[in-house]
Amino acid sequence: MNQLARAKITALGTYVPPRVLTNADFEKMVETTDEWILTRTGIRERHVVDKGVATSDLAVEAAKCALAERGIDASEIEAIVVATVTPDMFFPSTACLVQHKLGIKGIWGFDLSAACSAFVYALQAGAQFVSTGAHKKVLVIGSDVMSSILDYTDRATCILFGDGAGAVVLEPANDGEGIIDFVHEIDGSGACALYMPGGGSLHPSTRETVDKKMHVVHQDGQAVFKYAVRKMGEVCEKLLARNGVKASDIDCFIPHQANQRIIKATADRVGLKPETVIINIDRYGNTTAGTIPLAMQTAREDGRLKKGDLVLLASVGAGFTIGATLLRWTI
Ligand SMILES: CC(C)(COP(=O)(O)OP(=O)(O)OC[C@H]1O[C@@H](n2cnc3c(N)ncnc32)[C@H](O)[C@@H]1OP(=O)(O)O)[C@@H](O)C(=O)NCCC(=O)NCCS
Repeated sequence: MNQLARAKITALGTYVPPRVLTNADFEKMVETTDEWILTRTGIRERHVVDKGVATSDLAVEAAKCALAERGIDASEIEAIVVATVTPDMFFPSTACLVQHKLGIKGIWGFDLSAACSAFVYALQAGAQFVSTGAHKKVLVIGSDVMSSILDYTDRATCILFGDGAGAVVLEPANDGEGIIDFVHEIDGSGACALYMPGGGSLHPSTRETVDKKMHVVHQDGQAVFKYAVRKMGEVCEKLLARNGVKASDIDCFIPHQANQRIIKATADRVGLKPETVIINIDRYGNTTAGTIPLAMQTAREDGRLKKGDLVLLASVGAGFTIGATLLRWTI
């Protein structure tokens, strides 16, 4: 990879639907309290779509913001990668729907399924096309409508997630800029810790699968928590070590937002400076593929992510999927 040109992010756009579900709203829906949710997860509120709004709609809004920031027409994009675990439907891919809604012709694209690590995986997939010279402008989008796969009577899962999207434009980088390196790992031994059992080829949708609530998120929260704390730190340390980067060199740590305690434990273990750690889970909950671009946006708005900063991204998600990315921020 090092002999190839690097890719860099040249624009960022995000979108969350306007409707907000607060912890107080959940107090009316399930047996929970604002205090429990806040102390266990760090979440205060999350955004959710209205009926009829799908993942591709959020993705298109985020993409339009990124294109506007870059000041280019959608027709300049050569490929689209959509990271999502909640595609509008099994097929066609959400990438096709996004391409059509953006009115771009003659390009290609695909969806990438890696749950909460999907954005970092898609970023890397897109970066490879740029690095090899296959494409000059790639749109990478993380978008999820988690509210479409939640059981709003299960207090252990429904309070955790929200809907949202983020998009970046990837282009060739100059020396010293852009995406430097990544460490990715998958571990299917954790498949049953966080999954949606119904609706696939193993358990096609039937009245029985719906009655058994197999079409919603199932999670062993503690198993996921422990694994996430261990592996997020591990991949970050590996990535920093092999690039000769000290934790104190990182200007901005942008982790997947699943739980504030996972983020803080990872940052402590890796030795990252607390002021570099970006947390916005309080406003959005876990938006799965949307969290990292949404957190990039928060970091920029707060003046904590600036051109030239050395940035570390990290995630653990269902699968398990694990990822970390090191990059030099360029916008
Ligand atoms: C889900 C999570 C917040 C639960 O926190 P926890 O401290 O592990 O809590 P536990 O699951 O041990 O449950 C403790 C108690 O709280 C209860 N509880 C669960 N959800 C609750 C809620 N919303 N309100 C009140 N009580 C709740 C449980 O029923 C349990 O009660 P019990 O002791 O009587 O059985 C936490 O495990 C977590 O964040 N896991 C990782 C999830 C994640 O990141 N998923 C996405 C990965 S990308």
